[in-house]
Amino acid sequence: MFEDITAAVRGVLQRECGVDDADVKWERPAQQDHGDRCTAVALRIAKTLGRKPQDIAEIIAQELRTQPTIVERVEVAGAGYVNVWFTPQELLRSLAASRQACVPAVRRTEPPVIVEYSQPNIAKPLAIHHVIGTVLGQSVSNLYEHAGYNVIRWNYLGDWGTQFGKLAVAHRRWGTEKPVRDCSLDELLALYVRFHKEVDEHPELEDEGREAFRDLERGDPALRAFWADVVAVTKASLASLYERLHVSFDLDLGESFYEDKMQPVIDAGLAKGVFHEGDGGALIAEFSEESALPPFMIRKSDGGTLYSTRDLAQMRYRIDAYHPQAILIFTDIAQKLHFQQLVATCEQLGWELTTFENVLFGRMRFVDKAMSTRKGTVMKLEHVVDEAVARAQAIIDERGDTIQTDDPAALAEMMGTGALVYGILSQNRKMDIVFDWDKMLSFEGNSAPYVQYTHARARSVLRKAGSDAALPKVTDVLEPDERRLLLHLQDFPSVLDEARAEHLPHKLAQYLYELCQRFNAFYNVLPILQAGEAARKLRLGLTALTADVLRCGAELLTLRVPDRM
Ligand code: ARG
Repeated sequence: MFEDITAAVRGVLQRECGVDDADVKWERPAQQDHGDRCTAVALRIAKTLGRKPQDIAEIIAQELRTQPTIVERVEVAGAGYVNVWFTPQELLRSLAASRQACVPAVRRTEPPVIVEYSQPNIAKPLAIHHVIGTVLGQSVSNLYEHAGYNVIRWNYLGDWGTQFGKLAVAHRRWGTEKPVRDCSLDELLALYVRFHKEVDEHPELEDEGREAFRDLERGDPALRAFWADVVAVTKASLASLYERLHVSFDLDLGESFYEDKMQPVIDAGLAKGVFHEGDGGALIAEFSEESALPPFMIRKSDGGTLYSTRDLAQMRYRIDAYHPQAILIFTDIAQKLHFQQLVATCEQLGWELTTFENVLFGRMRFVDKAMSTRKGTVMKLEHVVDEAVARAQAIIDERGDTIQTDDPAALAEMMGTGALVYGILSQNRKMDIVFDWDKMLSFEGNSAPYVQYTHARARSVLRKAGSDAALPKVTDVLEPDERRLLLHLQDFPSVLDEARAEHLPHKLAQYLYELCQRFNAFYNVLPILQAGEAARKLRLGLTALTADVLRCGAELLTLRVPDRM
């Protein structure tokens, strides 16, 4: 965007000031009446040139005044800013890029981006906090894919470890005749909970559990079969919940997959002298003084492997099998140190790590007292989703005729699940995520229902107009509310890039929220269907693009938007 005026500015800076390849950026002025865009390039180059920034800004302004088809008005302001107002035609022309951005880019043939997210532990239900990493990873994957990247969505299941030994012991002692495969996840979970209760009185159970896991690792057939059944039951329960949230994966190779891939990594570390025996016989890696990282345990003193061992094997495997251009692993802040140690160990091993990022997110905080003070028991995600849908249904009932729908149950599902995922994705993941029912389900604020309602309103206008609404190429004037909406639509491609590159979906959510505000202001102030021929065409075109951008942006955030509401 802005290629023509960028070229003009560069040209004049090179001719008049001898500056090659000036870095010309066009920003949105903080205040609307300071122009459509502004550039601070004069301020940036003035010092090296030994000239007054205003003089250079004036040279730029003169040059832009020779482009009347693009630039309507130009002004030098403040310490040396150049403020630009575009002609209506130029603004309309620029929207082609926004329309294009609603369509997924063609998939490029290049190394993949591996995005790992969700990663629940098997034999446990998905708890409410799991939803954060799950929807963040899903939406960032969507953004990459939309931009033409080859994405591998990876659910690294926590399907290995001592918990299986404990569960096996519990099943042996207190389980029923019913085959494990036919048990519900809740029944399995009850066994696990019982194990932890009984351990207080019978501490020897702990050893028995560890023993059972060791037998499982050694390949005991009965334990293997038991393990496979537990994994199958958990996966089936996960699948239905993921589907409701529009979350999907290409791979769900979890920790167990790396069982036979750990020894080669341990051998390599030993051969390189990176791993050595620490006090008590465990195998550890140690790091430089400056790094201030504590030692990383690679193998227990009894020879057992660890979470860390599997993560090393996992990194090696992903590099060898996929040669990815990037690996992103979404986890909550509690795992920060683990991944710092992991990366430092990979470096010591001399592995050429592709771009790696442990994409961190904060904890969940509850506004609702009853939720925040709940102790001991996990709050199951499934129940929270059900409650969100029930609350959405209540709002739909309460609003009565002001809500239009042929299928209230489907709308409630869309609104309830949407409120939950959008409630999370509209917040900056680097902070704690606040869980607030009222805010999530509000029709006015930065919420799913507001985005959904605005989208439905735009579609309703288009339905009534009854024709395809393409944007006209020319218009003589733009009303202030048209211009504000148009300028915001213009930003869509760059917001998608930013949200993807920074792994910050809330930037897209914030953009959609502001788009809704601008569209509603436009809709409330200006007639659309009743306007004169030229204005009607323009406004329908803007309405159609708004609806498309809202739908595309919302779906990238795993939020569905209805055509009627
Ligand atoms: N399953 C782990 C947990 O719930 C998270 C896995 C994170 N990913 C990884 N490669 N270590 O704590």
